[in-house]
Amino acid sequence: MQDRPNRDLSKSNAQFRRAVKRLPLGVSSTFRYWGDDRTVYVHHGKGGRTWDIDGNGYVDYRLGYGPAILGYADDRVDAAARKGMEVGGVFALSTEKELIVADRIAKMVPAAELVRFSNSGTEAVMAALRLARAFTGREEYLLVEGGYHGLFDAAMWMADMEGWTPGSNADPDVVPYGKGIPPTVKKLAHLVPMNDMQRLEDTFRKHGDRLAAMLIEPIQGNCCAIMARVEYVRLARELCDRYGVMLIIDEVKTGFRVGKGGIQGILGVKPDITTFAKAVANGYPIALVAGREDVMRTFRYGGASHGGTYTAHSVSLAAAEECLRILDETPALETLANHGTQLMAGISAILNARGIVHSYSGHPSMFGLFFDAAPPDNYRAWKASDYSFYDRMAHYLHDLGIIVEPDSREPWFMCEAHGLDATCLTDTLAAVERAVDLTLEDLAAEAAE
Ligand SMILES: Cc1ncc(COP(=O)(O)O)c(C=O)c1O
Repeated sequence: MQDRPNRDLSKSNAQFRRAVKRLPLGVSSTFRYWGDDRTVYVHHGKGGRTWDIDGNGYVDYRLGYGPAILGYADDRVDAAARKGMEVGGVFALSTEKELIVADRIAKMVPAAELVRFSNSGTEAVMAALRLARAFTGREEYLLVEGGYHGLFDAAMWMADMEGWTPGSNADPDVVPYGKGIPPTVKKLAHLVPMNDMQRLEDTFRKHGDRLAAMLIEPIQGNCCAIMARVEYVRLARELCDRYGVMLIIDEVKTGFRVGKGGIQGILGVKPDITTFAKAVANGYPIALVAGREDVMRTFRYGGASHGGTYTAHSVSLAAAEECLRILDETPALETLANHGTQLMAGISAILNARGIVHSYSGHPSMFGLFFDAAPPDNYRAWKASDYSFYDRMAHYLHDLGIIVEPDSREPWFMCEAHGLDATCLTDTLAAVERAVDLTLEDLAAEAAE
């Protein structure tokens, strides 16, 4: 029996006990709570690594759910942000930098003919759906099972996989993500399983004339990086055209990550509207909704409302300008994708040596790991696969200095700094090997009981 890793979290635990008296669950986002004795409080991050207040260092593959595309506290972006501070913040007026950043985005993503800034992914998708509704004069919309589009009520409907039996002919129930989401909103949302072409056609035939938009994440950034097949997205494009529906590709996670032109560039499908956030400014809060000129001009007096006090903040804009410049003009995206490719190969070597069947989905810059011969091609198939090995292994990885999401539905995210520091790869693979062996030992011990 190997020794169990013994991570000291005494300071984080003490902080939790203090924080929980003032902050619900002791945190500022429910997903940051990992249990009373496992919730981590960060001291700082630099490059591809994070340090907690106990002094434990981690190679970080969550990267704040994706934004730190270059790495934490990137000197180049932070220097630009500091200059942005001198501009003064927000003015309830516009600055020249908005056009500079919008021009860069339009250069990188041809579908982004016009651009509007927002502060978060949620705000951007909310604006995109409103825009689609204003442009089409319709209210209903289509979501893909396993997709996530933010915290506003219209997006907070999901397929209830917990309560669904694999192989069942019935659809999973559509349920809200939690309490406080009005059931009356639900009747406007329709859900379809990813990559089911027939089902998509049938749904458009039935509801297409009432749909304002179809929202899709072609790599599901909150569902193991499950990928849409190119023919599925092409069919979605065709059906949207046929029924006058706006195709919204939500690139909040994939944008400026999987390629300069996003997942839409890789698939060769042009949406009517796109949303971006996360990687735009290496973690400074900025997002955008972009798209077809005629659609985007619906943002006007008497058209779709859009604004916000903090929109196009001078710090975030300056950071976005520098971050996008780096992503556009340097090999940063190749560097981080190479790290992902090497990491997947290294993990595979460890798993293959132990006869553990596995596969990956997504893109080397954000991938999902499965303990099955092929990755699922939709959320229903995910339910059929076994993710208990992953869940155990993730906990050991934390103890061994690797931060991945404990929930297997969150992909592993790469940043440029991972690729520039060879020890990130060697440290990760050493920890993966140990975590796999510890998990195997646990399973063997359980089987022997
Ligand atoms: C695809 C997608 N859309 C929208 C959002 C919401 O973004 P935010 O958390 O910035 O509001 C997320 C967040 O993870 C996302 O992954």
